[in-house]
Amino acid sequence: MLRSHTCGELHLGHVGTPVHLSGWVQRSRDLGGMTFVDLRDRYGITQLVFNMDTRPDLCAQARRLGREFVISVRGSVAERSNKNLRIPTGEIEILVEELQVLNASKVPPFTIEDETDGGDDLRMKYRYLDLRRALVRNNLMLRHRMAIATRNYLNQEGFIEVETPVLIKSTPEGARDFVVPSRMNPGEFYALPQSPQTFKQLLMVSGFDKYFQIVKCFRDEDLRADRQPEFTQIDCEMAFVDQDDILSTFEGLARHLFRQVKGVEIGDFPRMTYAEAMRRFGSDKPDLRFGMEFTELTPLTRGKDFKVFDEAALVVGICAPGCAEYTRKQLDELTDFVRRPQIGAKGLVYVRCQADDTFKSSVDKFYTEEDLRNWAATSGARAGDLLLILAGEPNPTRKALNELRLEMGNRLGLRDRESFAPLWVIDFPLLEWDEDTRRFYAMHHPFTSPRREDIPLLDTDPAQVRANAYDLVINGVEIGGGSIRIHDRDLQKRMFSILGFTDEDAQAQFGFLMNAFEYGAPPHGGVAFGFDRWCALFGGADSIRDFIAFPKNNAGRDVMIDSPAPISQEQLDELSIGIRRSSSNG
Ligand code: AMO
Repeated sequence: MLRSHTCGELHLGHVGTPVHLSGWVQRSRDLGGMTFVDLRDRYGITQLVFNMDTRPDLCAQARRLGREFVISVRGSVAERSNKNLRIPTGEIEILVEELQVLNASKVPPFTIEDETDGGDDLRMKYRYLDLRRALVRNNLMLRHRMAIATRNYLNQEGFIEVETPVLIKSTPEGARDFVVPSRMNPGEFYALPQSPQTFKQLLMVSGFDKYFQIVKCFRDEDLRADRQPEFTQIDCEMAFVDQDDILSTFEGLARHLFRQVKGVEIGDFPRMTYAEAMRRFGSDKPDLRFGMEFTELTPLTRGKDFKVFDEAALVVGICAPGCAEYTRKQLDELTDFVRRPQIGAKGLVYVRCQADDTFKSSVDKFYTEEDLRNWAATSGARAGDLLLILAGEPNPTRKALNELRLEMGNRLGLRDRESFAPLWVIDFPLLEWDEDTRRFYAMHHPFTSPRREDIPLLDTDPAQVRANAYDLVINGVEIGGGSIRIHDRDLQKRMFSILGFTDEDAQAQFGFLMNAFEYGAPPHGGVAFGFDRWCALFGGADSIRDFIAFPKNNAGRDVMIDSPAPISQEQLDELSIGIRRSSSNG
């Protein structure tokens, strides 16, 4: 071993102890008679001291050390005169008696400290250096603790971890697939799994009963802060269960993770139907850390010659507490916010509920004080509050007001990262109609069971059918989703037909599953959690990127290994891919 201790564990109790430490030079300071070096490893930082009077040779050697040199030292632990109480080892230092350079380092392209001067691109290119920074390393350690706690809990609950294949078959549903050409089967392709969905269902047919897997999934979709093309799920499935069994089992997992990893005891996991979530919050993943629920004002605003409201199918508002005194500038900012193309509202109406019980609005020309008082009373607004109102087509208007609600939550500091509000959203619609292709799509996936009482509607009014599906939402983030599955061949066949598959197509794509349903498929259901998202939530971050060791950038590229990349003509030929590469590309 090149060390007796790590750089994070020595304290006053070790004073006088001979030690052997190894690590990276974080920085060095030359103070004439003394040279100080901060030595870093995964565990922390320890100060090394080289004394010019006693060991001029060593001191000269220390002065030549550059940032990120890998060194090994022997010496003894001493109490520091100048203590740094912000770090655990800040009361001691090492009086160095022997120094060995294990490897030199080029000057790193950015400073490897919490406050770094490296921009995003540079840090991604040198990700292995970025990972030396405590902030990023701590994120991965959190991820590790999450994975261990998940495995422990599920193992203790009788779940079996089973690996499912990564080279599978492309299917037309869901997001786009990443595909892999098969050399041995010219012109044919594997696809990387978007999730192990059908395999975990087959494991239920096999009698595995309780399955889980911490598993990589691949989706070729547009990227956002909470989406990566390859990401990880905690994927689970159970047989002989109904929705309640699944929700309570995984509430157990969630509570365990909160307790073990965050030290937080979680209260209730309320349940809310999709319809209610949309009505009260305009979102299927409402952030319940704060109120500001929607109030529908449509009937109260009609018939006063304000065309915008008269012509709108929906007039809906939120009440921002204590914001009646917002300045013109602040109100303009909010108007600009809702008008951004991503949000898409045409304008914003406000009503100030003033301290003296009078009302002032941007539509005073059309409405009397009594009208405004009425709106305020309906919205539960009190003196000092501000009503913010949008109008238009129901769905886009609710979506826009949801964004405004979240923005107000941010502005008012109501979205504390250390408080957690979980929620199960249930009863999602089974199907979504797409105007462009003029067909239904499964809102979750084609294997989700309709609610039993809604099955007759499949023939008469498919859009009204509710799914036996659920999402776990925490703080407005969709952490996971799942459903009770169809386990009956005929119902599955019917589902494919509603989704526009011919019998032949359904058989060709999913025959393996429907055939399996003929050999004693038990009732079953499951859920998958976005592991990266859960880590980011616990780490207090919006972006999942920093919780993944080697993530892709927003263009789906790994800039460190420079991937994706062209392949050689020989490889293309071998894979029977008819692309002719120009000779300059090799
Ligand atoms: P779903 O598609 O809802 O369900 O995915 C489950 C969870 O995975 C996370 N997630 C992602 N995380 C990061 N990057 C992405 N691109 C990404 N896409 C999804 C989300 C999501 O809630 N097989 C079903 C589950 C089931 O029915 O059991 C499935 O994959 O947190």
